[in-house]
Amino acid sequence: MTILITGGAGFIGSHVVRLFVEAYPNYHIFNLDALTYAGNLENLKDIEEQPNYTFVKGDITDETFINKLFEKHKFDSVIHLAAESHVDRSIKDPLAFVKTNVIGTMILLNAFKNLWKDNFQNKLFYHISTDEVYGSLGQTGLFTETTSYDPNSPYSASKASSDHFVRAYGETYDMPYVISNCSNNYGQNQFPEKLIPLFINNIINNKPLPVYGDGNYTRDWLYVNDHAVAIDLVFHKGKNKETYNIGGFNEWKNIDLVKLLCEQMDEKLSRPKGSSEKLITYVKDRPGHDLRYAIDASKINKELGWQPSVTFEEGLNKTIDWYLNNENWLHSVTSGEYQSYYEKQYS
Ligand code: NAD
Ligand code: DAU
Repeated sequence: MTILITGGAGFIGSHVVRLFVEAYPNYHIFNLDALTYAGNLENLKDIEEQPNYTFVKGDITDETFINKLFEKHKFDSVIHLAAESHVDRSIKDPLAFVKTNVIGTMILLNAFKNLWKDNFQNKLFYHISTDEVYGSLGQTGLFTETTSYDPNSPYSASKASSDHFVRAYGETYDMPYVISNCSNNYGQNQFPEKLIPLFINNIINNKPLPVYGDGNYTRDWLYVNDHAVAIDLVFHKGKNKETYNIGGFNEWKNIDLVKLLCEQMDEKLSRPKGSSEKLITYVKDRPGHDLRYAIDASKINKELGWQPSVTFEEGLNKTIDWYLNNENWLHSVTSGEYQSYYEKQYS
């Protein structure tokens, strides 16, 4: 089986690529990535020489290139993760999100459909999506697979749109697909624009920790390796044309999470208790900020037997250790373009 994984040099994609390359020597894994600011081949250094792995640099919005690539390699399946993924960037440049997340997904869908339309047997298009498509919860309730879509940011609207197109291809062309919608991931190799790695990096450098609004926003956190395991299960055992919600059963208010992170960082850096907390700075809120996300993951739990394997304390501990032991990685991704992004976002 040849599998195309898109966005495999990014945060989640790199964990998925590694899992598939190592667990399935009989599959050939192609990793297609444009290497935007978020993509980094360092994330995959340990597996780049594996005989069942090929990296291809390319952009999913380049239709001619994508069609040729599908013609050449005849991918049996696609696991599609490539995306613009940061909400704050989507507020500043929404069109970039439409281009990659909507048009890019469409180009992949067309290429896959055109290749296999005469016989879709044993073929699968697996689209990786987010819980943000469901919009915001109040203080109670959980997102289920049947919750109506109600996206609030340009990022989540673009992901919602791509989900709709995947479903439409399933209905219209009978193209086999699965979709999974996951909650907030954390772990090693996450780009330090997202809350946890940004704050780890700022604590290391004694910089302010910019908490949006009053900090009472809630997210449901999942360790990235557990997401990769869930993706493996959905890919192999998920039912055609079904959606699976994936979550951590692990809700945290941002401010509580930040305080826990501060405590752990003080310990690891042997700084006096309370020194990282002093860096907390409440800043202007994110426009359209969703109050709360929380996933009901009972379907994937009951049908596919998946559950998170790592507690939040363990996962956070491992994540901090990874960033502290990989300061070169942090340094390389935070030089250059990152500086001007940071200035614009937080000045
Ligand atoms: P990321 O930003 O770390 O990585 C995205 C990858 O896609 C990068 O390697 C980038 O170079 C690549 N890419 C971007 N535009 C491309 C293009 N036009 N052509 C080819 N490659 C391109 O993102 P992530 O956090 O790893 O998220 C991966 C996927 O999972 C996304 O689809 C995202 O919506 C979804 N998701 C993320 C989370 C999360 O918490 N991070 C949660 C649920 C779902
Ligand atoms: O829920 C899944 C989604 O989780 C994914 O689809 C997205 O790709 C991913 O980026 C993430 O989106 P969030 O917007 O929830 O993640 P982020 O890390 O940007 O922010 C988490 C929370 O922390 C959110 O309430 C905003 C807040 N925050 C974030 C940053 C970057 C701050 O208070 N300060 C910050 O500087």
